[in-house]
Amino acid sequence: MKKIILDCDPGHDDAVALLFAGISESIDLLGVVAVAGNSYVENTVKNALKITEMASINVPVLKGAGKPILREQIVAPNIHGESGLEGVELPEPSKKYEEENYIHFYKRIIEENERNITIVAVGPLTNIGNLFLIHPELKDKISEIVIMGGGIAFGNTTPVAEFNIYADPEAAKIVFDSGVPLTVFGLDVTHQAKINNEEIRKMQEIKSEVVSKMGVLLEFFHKTYFDVFKIVGAPLHDPCAVIYLSDPEIFEYENYYTQIELNGKYTYGQTVVDYWHLSGKVNSKWAVRVNREKFIEILFENLKKYEKR
Ligand code: BDR
Ligand code: CA
Repeated sequence: MKKIILDCDPGHDDAVALLFAGISESIDLLGVVAVAGNSYVENTVKNALKITEMASINVPVLKGAGKPILREQIVAPNIHGESGLEGVELPEPSKKYEEENYIHFYKRIIEENERNITIVAVGPLTNIGNLFLIHPELKDKISEIVIMGGGIAFGNTTPVAEFNIYADPEAAKIVFDSGVPLTVFGLDVTHQAKINNEEIRKMQEIKSEVVSKMGVLLEFFHKTYFDVFKIVGAPLHDPCAVIYLSDPEIFEYENYYTQIELNGKYTYGQTVVDYWHLSGKVNSKWAVRVNREKFIEILFENLKKYEKR
């Protein structure tokens, strides 16, 4: 069982990742830290509380950073709606986020689980960037950071920059330069992990209120992807990062040296991946291919477990 902290900005695909992490037998979810990204942090933390409460995932939920380290804030209403989780009304949570500061939480959990803790980061990397600025000594105590972000060949927010990296490139640079083992799920692979309309309908038939509502939410997400990108099928970006923890063999990987562009007029926020290994260096393992059928099968196998919760 992998001990993880899920750092996220729910977000439709974040919410699916959270449901998976909350039920998979391979994952011991120690906490959820929300970050500003798909929407403002007041919304993303509320969305995390709604999902954890509905799904009876009894873990601490923390409010992370409300602003990127340096750049002005961006959010993604064109994909996730104003609330970050538009498409269906979810009950107001009765639970509150923890009072503990998120940096303190990270430090405490990392020190309690030295070299036995994985951070799964599926939103902008602001929280982890701030953590490493304040506590650089913690870098050596983390076994792995699994990131959904970036792309080898293309972006989705600018032609070359992916949303999570573009929303806080300075934080991303701190994380990519940290020396912590990184596994990255970029757009090249997450766009292979698409869920189609028929599968979304099947999700709605699962006899668990939170999962069937997730199916309705994914209809919204499927539509925004069609409206914005003209693609059919919703890429389940963030679930890739958690399904990797239980079933790493359904993905194929390449090791690369990745730098984050901070100065480019047209390329700010790009993950510059050394595809031909020209630098002779490596700082990241990228997933490059996924067996989509297996991916969907594993996702459904786990979501169905909520029928018994
Ligand atoms: C990433 O940005 C957000 O829209 C999704 O939640 C995902 O983490 C994809 O670029
Ligand atoms: Ca996300």
